[in-house]
Amino acid sequence: MLKTVLSFSVILAATAAPVIAQSSDVGAALYEQFCQSCHGPAGDGQGPVAQFLNVPPPNLTTIAARNDGEFPMLQVIQTIDGRNIIGPHGGAMPMWGAVFSGDMGETMQTYGYGTVLEARGRLMSLAMYLESIQQ
Ligand code: HEC
Repeated sequence: MLKTVLSFSVILAATAAPVIAQSSDVGAALYEQFCQSCHGPAGDGQGPVAQFLNVPPPNLTTIAARNDGEFPMLQVIQTIDGRNIIGPHGGAMPMWGAVFSGDMGETMQTYGYGTVLEARGRLMSLAMYLESIQQ
């Protein structure tokens, strides 16, 4: 019995660390997967796909600097999930609605509320990662 409890706590201890170290790491991984092709590995807008775009991807490390030193968290979140459509051309930025916000209607009916929460978590992690790379 004691042995079971002990090994259980060892497992807990081993798995707890990555869970606590959440946001920025998850955000960094998501950034690498979905964003760096355009915005660049360093967030400076120099991604490999950038040269093929009509609208150059902005430098994401200067968002705060361009906003009186304040990181506009809500605006950034809405830009990523597609609610804040930027640019007169309807946006060169892909829409990530389903991936990062979870459509409250359809997604929830199809996959349940857990999926929506997961999507929100991803969106938050990404936004926090962007905040962490501000110059
Ligand atoms: C296909 C290329 C492309 C990809 C991939 C891409 N973006 Fe963008 N992004 C753009 C372009 C181009 C703009 C400029 C806005 C516009 O006119 O659409 C932009 C604008 C932004 C802005 C507004 C920046 C500012 O200065 O206000 C944010 C924030 C942003 N992107 C975050 C992200 C995140 C996070 C991801 C990954 C989930 C991502 N982008 C993936 C092309 C891309």
